[in-house]
Amino acid sequence: MKFSKAFIPTLKEAPSDAIIPSHVLMIRAGLVRMVSAGIYSFLPVGYKIIRQISEVIREEMNAIGGQEFHLPALNPKEIWDSTGRTEAFGEVLFHIKNRDYVLAPTHEEIMTFHAKGVLASYKDLPQIWYQIQTKFRNESRPRSGVIRGRQFLMKDAYTFDATTEGLDHAYSLHDQAYRKIFDRCSLKYFVVGAASGAMGGSKSEEFMVKSDAGEDTVAYCEKCGYAANVEVAQSKVDTVKRRGESKDYYEIHTPNIKSIDELCGFLKIDETETAKSRVYIHNGAPVLILMLGNEEVNESKLASVLGGEVRPAHPEELAEIAGADAGSIGPIGFKHRIIADNRLKDGNNLYSGANKNDYHIGGIDLKRDVTNLEYFDLRYAQTGEQCPNCGEVMEVFKAIELGHIFKLGTKYSEALGAMFLDEEGKEHPIIMGSYGIGVERILACYIEQNYDDKGIIWDTALTPFHVHLIGINMKNDIVVETSTKLYEEMQSWGYEVLFDDRTDGSAGVKFNDADLLGMPVQVIVGERNIKEGMIEVKVRRTDERMKIELGALKDKLSELIQK
Ligand SMILES: Nc1ncnc2c1ncn2[C@@H]1O[C@H](COP(=O)(O)OP(=O)(O)OP(=O)(O)O)[C@@H](O)[C@H]1O
Ligand SMILES: [Mg+2]
Ligand SMILES: [Zn+2]
Repeated sequence: MKFSKAFIPTLKEAPSDAIIPSHVLMIRAGLVRMVSAGIYSFLPVGYKIIRQISEVIREEMNAIGGQEFHLPALNPKEIWDSTGRTEAFGEVLFHIKNRDYVLAPTHEEIMTFHAKGVLASYKDLPQIWYQIQTKFRNESRPRSGVIRGRQFLMKDAYTFDATTEGLDHAYSLHDQAYRKIFDRCSLKYFVVGAASGAMGGSKSEEFMVKSDAGEDTVAYCEKCGYAANVEVAQSKVDTVKRRGESKDYYEIHTPNIKSIDELCGFLKIDETETAKSRVYIHNGAPVLILMLGNEEVNESKLASVLGGEVRPAHPEELAEIAGADAGSIGPIGFKHRIIADNRLKDGNNLYSGANKNDYHIGGIDLKRDVTNLEYFDLRYAQTGEQCPNCGEVMEVFKAIELGHIFKLGTKYSEALGAMFLDEEGKEHPIIMGSYGIGVERILACYIEQNYDDKGIIWDTALTPFHVHLIGINMKNDIVVETSTKLYEEMQSWGYEVLFDDRTDGSAGVKFNDADLLGMPVQVIVGERNIKEGMIEVKVRRTDERMKIELGALKDKLSELIQK
């Protein structure tokens, strides 16, 4: 590809709404352009990378026996009504106004529609069906570029089995294929076991990467691979030890002291001597939650401990429930159920609210003063705490989902009547799995993990071109002749070459574009070197530059570029 003829609109600066590195760099390198919020066009170089990623996915899906489909994006709304998902997707589903159509956000319904009546016998099973196709979701806050688009490419696969063992097998095939795909794309990823939520299945796992653009927060142990959403993540952390002899509890006047920080400052005590109180309403009844110091209540853990309906009490309810406002509530004299976080287990000489505005109580002994106090893990795991599996220090960070594998079970086959006959002629719903990967997310997340202040840094696997050939002064005959010859030659050696043959660009502009676009190897043709029979080669990732003899280029490239 000759740069002078190519459409590669690089930019010095990205628009100010691009914040995360991958978004900035994809725009600056001319890979994409935004058309409207969450809607992007891929320009030729960007789309070349998308096709390469798709090809990696395709190869690994075919390797596990997947068969490629191409389903319509335009779906009759009726079929979505029949599984209840028109409602489940709600605002996220795009509707076509003049017809009863929706734009598909995923394809469980349509795939099941094709299985129905056709995969009719156990002999027709198992099947692995997939496609790489555009999905539509009216994401409420599209941002971070193509990472959260309203239109995006997904590889979605669906498996159909007669037995749960069959589903287990299909699931593990996908697990392995996903690892190969992400490895081949040189991504550093980890796997999180997840609740499958609205999809309605029994087991699911998310493949994730660390990214500030992520909307999930996870705790991760690099040593053993433990990874969990903070909503459920555990950690090994000290409980408050009993401190000295328990005093009798006593009231302290604390005018205008509301937060734990203010209380600690006022009484000159440490946070770990305090128990923070939060009131929730559980199935209509108040519950007091005690947390150590300033720790937040993990509402997901609370909900799963309590079951049923749980919500924070409204400020106006507190006077009635506790006789005080939020900053002055505590366990002593609280008339309803009380539960506490494990870290407070049997703590004594603690400070908490007095259930009387502007008063706190000191000398609280939870073992002595609160009868039948129940303890649960109700906190968020934090960076620096120990892994529940292996005890190594964990990190908590934002992460983004690249892919997701679900054991769906029979939800869709039952809703749509996709049944098969077993060996005895008995009818059963087909057992299904579903497996998604965001294609653009692979690209964006790769860049998030591989860039520097000058631009993108490609590995051989995904790079749009192997070599970026730069003719420094394309008005100089010797440079034109040598670089043109090298352009042909390197292609004949099997490399894809982007040839910066622009006659008008300065050397500086060409070098900057080469670094921004990030091809793994740059070959630089300048008059002085050629006259000495030499050529300059630069490795983008390490910034290493070497002057080598022209005749040594072929070997050098095969050393630097592992195809
Ligand atoms: N709005 C989007 N833009 C780009 N890719 C997306 C988007 N939503 C989902 N994906 C990709 O499609 C894959 C499968 O879709 P799935 O329904 O499991 O995602 P999701 O759980 O909605 O993801 P998220 O939690 O990030 O919204 C995801 O793992 C992700 O890589
Ligand atoms: Mg989503
Ligand atoms: Zn661990």
